Amino acid sequence: MDEPTPEAALRSAFEARFGRPPALVSDAGGRVNLIGEHTDYHEGFVLPAAIDLRTHAAGAPRSDDLLHVYSEPVGNEVKVSTSGLKPWTGGLDWRAYVLGPFWALLREGWPVPGADILIRSDVPFGSGLSSSASVQVALVGLGAHLARGALVPSDAARLARRAENDFCHVPCGIMDQLASACGRDRHAIRIDCRTGSVEPVPLPPDWALVVADSGVKHSVAGEEYAKRQRECEAGMAVLRDRHPHVRTARDVDRDMLEAARGALADLSFRRLRHVVTENERVLEAQRLLASRDPAAVGALLAASHESLASDYDVSCPELDTLVDIASTVPGVLGARLTGAGWGGNTVNLVRAERAHEVCDAIRDQYARRSGRRIAVRVVHASRGWIATPQS
Ligand code: GLA
Repeated sequence: MDEPTPEAALRSAFEARFGRPPALVSDAGGRVNLIGEHTDYHEGFVLPAAIDLRTHAAGAPRSDDLLHVYSEPVGNEVKVSTSGLKPWTGGLDWRAYVLGPFWALLREGWPVPGADILIRSDVPFGSGLSSSASVQVALVGLGAHLARGALVPSDAARLARRAENDFCHVPCGIMDQLASACGRDRHAIRIDCRTGSVEPVPLPPDWALVVADSGVKHSVAGEEYAKRQRECEAGMAVLRDRHPHVRTARDVDRDMLEAARGALADLSFRRLRHVVTENERVLEAQRLLASRDPAAVGALLAASHESLASDYDVSCPELDTLVDIASTVPGVLGARLTGAGWGGNTVNLVRAERAHEVCDAIRDQYARRSGRRIAVRVVHASRGWIATPQS
């Protein structure tokens, strides 16, 4: 017998749990960021892609105002009435991530009804591939449809970010949500995080993306992420004093930064040097992708990792080892940490015809060096958020 499609399997699981079919399935991508790390909250540039590791949310409206959400990855459920939703207090856990999207919609006047909801996801949790953004985008999309409204993907991203910033109190930028919502098959997207503009950038068909999971969990909700923002902000105060047109680090160039070096704490100088040079690398990578110069894109990935490790200080020994191993594996064009860092995955740009050998080689060499076997897999640049009515 044929295997059911993932959507049919989700429908059956929903029926088994709630005793009726779902009205809608909403599905959003995890993401891998090719380049442009820790630039989004400085209104800079990023070049991520949505991937084929995804979160699906199936839902059906209820006649009362109860949100009954079951998360398969967590193996638990939460029940809250829509009128009782308020920003999360206390320790952050999965419930905040699944309730925040409904709060964000309600706050902007969407008449979200009570609903039964089932979440299924194959985006690994806490591994820098945006499991939380994909859940939040999928749920914003689901909630908007249940409220009988039309939502464009960029608004799904904006609301998902609002949920993360103002409900979960996590000060993330807009990259993950825009990638998850606005991704395109076989494309990366170049995002200008000041204007929110999204440009599709075709990925050459003879290149593939491999992600290698360091096995070290990280969370953007941790103290270090917010600390980087404060360290940059201390330097930005000096730069704004000198240059009235400067609003964020996006407006700073190398000469301005170099000229201010003596007035900046070394830490702030290095943090900002990462942001300024990383923005340049994103724009350069976009140009090189158009000219299909893989070696040059690979070198930019290597430079990005080096800058993240030494200037922004967000790498860890496991990620450095993975990047080091990748530099010796035939078929790898370049590698770097992807996402916030401190753990999670590396992204490797590889020759498509060698992608599976590359996965084996990285896995084996990492096991030899560390004694641990990790997940190394090919991911495909995929579409972003999509909602499918079920009747
Ligand atoms: C996390 C955040 C993003 C971005 C990256 C670092 O993924 O959610 O907004 O800041 O870290 O580039």
